[in-house]
Amino acid sequence: MDARAEADADAGGTAVSAVLEVRDLHKAYAGVRAVDGVSFDVQAGSITGLIGPNGSGKSTTIDGISGFQPLDSGTVRLGGADITGMASHRIARAGLMRTFQTVRVYERLSLRENLMIAAQQFDAAGWIDELLRTKRYRGAIAAGEARARELTRMIGLMKYWEAPTGILSYGQKKLVALAAALMPKPRIVVLDEPVAGVNPTRIREVEEVLQTLNAAGETFLIVEHNVEFITTLCHHVIVLDQGRKLSEGSAEAIHADARVLEAYLGVAPELEEAEA
Ligand SMILES: Nc1ncnc2c1ncn2[C@@H]1O[C@H](COP(=O)(O)OP(=O)(O)O)[C@@H](O)[C@H]1O
Ligand SMILES: [Mg+2]
Repeated sequence: MDARAEADADAGGTAVSAVLEVRDLHKAYAGVRAVDGVSFDVQAGSITGLIGPNGSGKSTTIDGISGFQPLDSGTVRLGGADITGMASHRIARAGLMRTFQTVRVYERLSLRENLMIAAQQFDAAGWIDELLRTKRYRGAIAAGEARARELTRMIGLMKYWEAPTGILSYGQKKLVALAAALMPKPRIVVLDEPVAGVNPTRIREVEEVLQTLNAAGETFLIVEHNVEFITTLCHHVIVLDQGRKLSEGSAEAIHADARVLEAYLGVAPELEEAEA
């Protein structure tokens, strides 16, 4: 748990605190109830998974939470503050970052430059300091560079520090995008399908990186279709089906839940037997 999470926990008077509180989200597209009353919490310092079959409302949920799509109703609180309906860049500034299914890195710039840009993005007064070359500006650059190095070490790509990110593999670019999201020290990072399109032999590496970052205090909400990946990694799993929360609990509990199997396979094993 990082200093901020610890402070939050102290303020709440309990050891655990929800950094993200999602309440009764609704979103319909032309009559389709994409998200139909979804509520859940993400605890500070946790890796929380959001799973469900195709079309169950995962993307609509995280797009709504992160301000990339308007919601019809519901409330989203980040570190206790209401962020419902805020624009995505304001939500990012408030401390909720997200990565996308398709990687977004500046291919011609080095890993170091990619991370330094990511840090400056949220420093509104940065350009004025830059013009004046203030002590504060030089301090911010030094602190940013130290964090960029630390994150690059944790994603295991230090040898590419000065290399253009264009030479990296798809999976490595995904890790750069993750490090970039972490640069402004967010309260939580929402990952949209972090291993989609990643070579199966490399999935274990992504798992290890996420575990290392989590041990260093980072909080993640992970949307993923790969159930194996989610159950290995997550402390807590939320299962969506047809826009509703079907189940939630520990990875083991979710694994043993027949309703979850049914949602994924489209048929309950017991029913299949009964009908045969
Ligand atoms: N822009 C859209 N317009 C119309 N329907 C949509 C749109 N986006 C999603 N949907 C529908 O909403 C439901 C949930 O979709 P989505 O949130 O993308 O699910 P998931 O990410 O779990 O696959 C699906 O029935 C999908 O067809
Ligand atoms: Mg989706």
